[in-house]
Amino acid sequence: MPRSKIAGIGKYVPERVVTNQDLTQYMDTDDQWILERTGIKERRYAHRTEETTTTMAVEAAKIAIERAGTTAQEIDFIVFATLSPDYYFPGCGVMLQRAMKMKEVGALDVRNQCSGFLYAISVADQFIKSGMYKNILVVGSEKHSFGLDFSTRGRNISVIFGDGAGAVVLQPTEKTDQGILSTHLHSDGESAEILAMYNPGTHANHWGEKNYADFDEAPIAQMFMSHKMIDKAQNFPFMDGQSVFKKAVVKFPEVIMEALLANGYQSTDLNMLIPHQANLRISQFVQQKLKLTEDQVYNNIQQYGNTTAASVPIALCEAWEKGKIKEGDLVCLAAFGSGFTWASALLKW
Ligand code: COA
Repeated sequence: MPRSKIAGIGKYVPERVVTNQDLTQYMDTDDQWILERTGIKERRYAHRTEETTTTMAVEAAKIAIERAGTTAQEIDFIVFATLSPDYYFPGCGVMLQRAMKMKEVGALDVRNQCSGFLYAISVADQFIKSGMYKNILVVGSEKHSFGLDFSTRGRNISVIFGDGAGAVVLQPTEKTDQGILSTHLHSDGESAEILAMYNPGTHANHWGEKNYADFDEAPIAQMFMSHKMIDKAQNFPFMDGQSVFKKAVVKFPEVIMEALLANGYQSTDLNMLIPHQANLRISQFVQQKLKLTEDQVYNNIQQYGNTTAASVPIALCEAWEKGKIKEGDLVCLAAFGSGFTWASALLKW
């Protein structure tokens, strides 16, 4: 059975840099609070009308495809991870297929938030190993800036997130010392409401108080999105930051060790860990817990904030472009996020 390898990788971040200081125009916050709590100095925001989750994905995908030595027409499957799609439906996979003038290949959308790219790469890996596809485009892209509450009310979330996209092309390899060694996926829906965007949705407050929604009078059924909901800012994401933090510092190291042990490695064998860029303090905690050096962990949340499904491929691409990942290196990708879901992938570059 062939393994899959990352044959090409690309990233795209929008030009517009938004510093912590810039955010103080809109909300009661300050550079020091954001920097100390999250490590973030600045993030990128997409152009309001010229850029979407899909257009950013196209830019990252073009680079990945070229570096893989293939063409958009040769791609035989698309896996697209995002929580900020251009449309509620259809998903971004088909938008990407159209924008890149690809053949009428399958396009799968993954809704696993911060773990989205890891889930996407795991799905693609299985398709390559089974022999079904030979040239899969896997993308993570987010345009968070369009869906955040920029008033003081939303400051605990809005300061964290940024926009961007990352993409890889997976292809089979016969080499025994190269490629994806294993992927590990987990979920625990018990805490689904701790980090969530409840509306618009069909929940109708069924799952309890936290799924708050104020509906307008509707003749037949409750409405999916209502004026009241918007007036009360119930259409923005919710996060219980401290609960998220506590879960992340347990599940992150656990899933990294799971990947290492499954392949007979220890944390000291790792050349590079690419953690989802949720919060610099979480990454530093993981680094200490696994007794890794700074050189073994790549962080760029300082420049880009948390770009959810795009964060792992952006960081992986940047680390590789800077020469921090070389052929034969043992690399672990790991993520944790809303759901909760968490996942890892271990690969030989
Ligand atoms: N600027 C200034 N003050 C802010 C603020 C901001 N952007 N956001 C919140 N605050 C205030 C709060 O209102 C609160 O004030 P109070 O004490 O007067 O009530 C105070 O800061 C502390 O808030 P709290 O939410 O307890 O802060 P925290 O130390 O938990 O830090 C996070 C908040 C979000 C940075 C932190 O919980 C975190 O990083 N959690 C993990 C989030 C994460 O990784 N999410 C993505 C998962 S994929």
